[in-house]
Amino acid sequence: MRYLDHAATTPMRPEATAAMQAFLGERFGNPSGIHGVARRAKDAIEAARERAATLLGAAHPLEIVFTGGGTEADNLAVVGAALARPGRGVVTTAVEHAAVLEPARFLERLGTAVAIVGVDRAGRVDPEEVVAAAARVDAGVVSVMAANNEIGTLQPVAEVAAAARRAVPDVLVHTDAVQAFVSEDVSAEAWDVDMISIAAHKFGGPQGVGILFVRSGVDLEPLLHGGGQELGRRSGTHDVAGIVGMAAAMQAAVDDRPAFRRRVGGARDRFEAALRATLPDVVPTVAGADRLVQHAHLRFPGIDAETLLVRLDLAGIAAAAGSACHSGAVRTSHVLDAIGLDPAAAKECVRFTFGWPDRPVDGEAAAAEVAAVVEAMR
Ligand SMILES: Cc1ncc(COP(=O)(O)O)c(C=O)c1O
Repeated sequence: MRYLDHAATTPMRPEATAAMQAFLGERFGNPSGIHGVARRAKDAIEAARERAATLLGAAHPLEIVFTGGGTEADNLAVVGAALARPGRGVVTTAVEHAAVLEPARFLERLGTAVAIVGVDRAGRVDPEEVVAAAARVDAGVVSVMAANNEIGTLQPVAEVAAAARRAVPDVLVHTDAVQAFVSEDVSAEAWDVDMISIAAHKFGGPQGVGILFVRSGVDLEPLLHGGGQELGRRSGTHDVAGIVGMAAAMQAAVDDRPAFRRRVGGARDRFEAALRATLPDVVPTVAGADRLVQHAHLRFPGIDAETLLVRLDLAGIAAAAGSACHSGAVRTSHVLDAIGLDPAAAKECVRFTFGWPDRPVDGEAAAAEVAAVVEAMR
């Protein structure tokens, strides 16, 4: 088995699994209660909140809102901010994850003015275009992802935030850092943004739990109404084990980041170099952009990506296509479309993503295995 799909989800780190054990057993309390069993669960949640705040560059633990994953964090940011600011517009980019683009389309159906900013050939947004769009729709919220999940391109988040505020001083700036957190220094303070989304399962925590950082004083309309947990911003009984596991994974990921960039980035670099030495016609989809160290997005001229993925799977290799597969329907990737790749070329692209268990030598081994499958197809 060769797993090259860490951007979809990555295995749990041992630190996270270990931290969760007690909360799947004897520490089963509901943190919203007042008795001792509940308090022990609540203490764990608050310790996780403090740790998460520190690791995200937040000024206060109460700026951390626990959610049911990245999608919920993105929805709370975009829809929650827009509903709290009626009559104001929303600005986002053409390469966002569906967890941002679909909420934006939902708001548009409700009558919100939505501006979608394009990107260059490498998938980068121009902060000046954000300025123009924000002014045009009197933006209440701007959402620009930190790193793209398909092609790995990094966005200039701090510049975008500053530029957006030049156009509309009270605009709220959100960034989806779901893919970035594992390898990039994600910091509310350094980026000076109002909201940040992360998802535990992308950096070694459990699936189905995430965080929306919300700067103090920012008013959001909650999406889930109920018992008033998370200061009313997200009702519902906490996933205590998930939150504890996420905080442990955050700590492990942040501690590992510099080594991750060398180790996992080394695997990616050696993978690309070895693959292209064997198959010289294979080309990176984007060139010249800052991109995630763990991402390789490659075009195999003359090879249908869907067929290649099936062949790779038969050979025990897990990768992902440049097109997204939703409920069985294969669509051309909106990201590849946005960078101007023609549809025929887009159908020849495959994403290989490395993760925390990988070492540099794994890159060469993976390249040899992938090259053998491609050569057998030719
Ligand atoms: C950039 C980005 N945003 C949001 C999400 C959604 O996160 P989750 O799967 O935790 O709902 C993903 C997941 O692939 C992602 O890559």
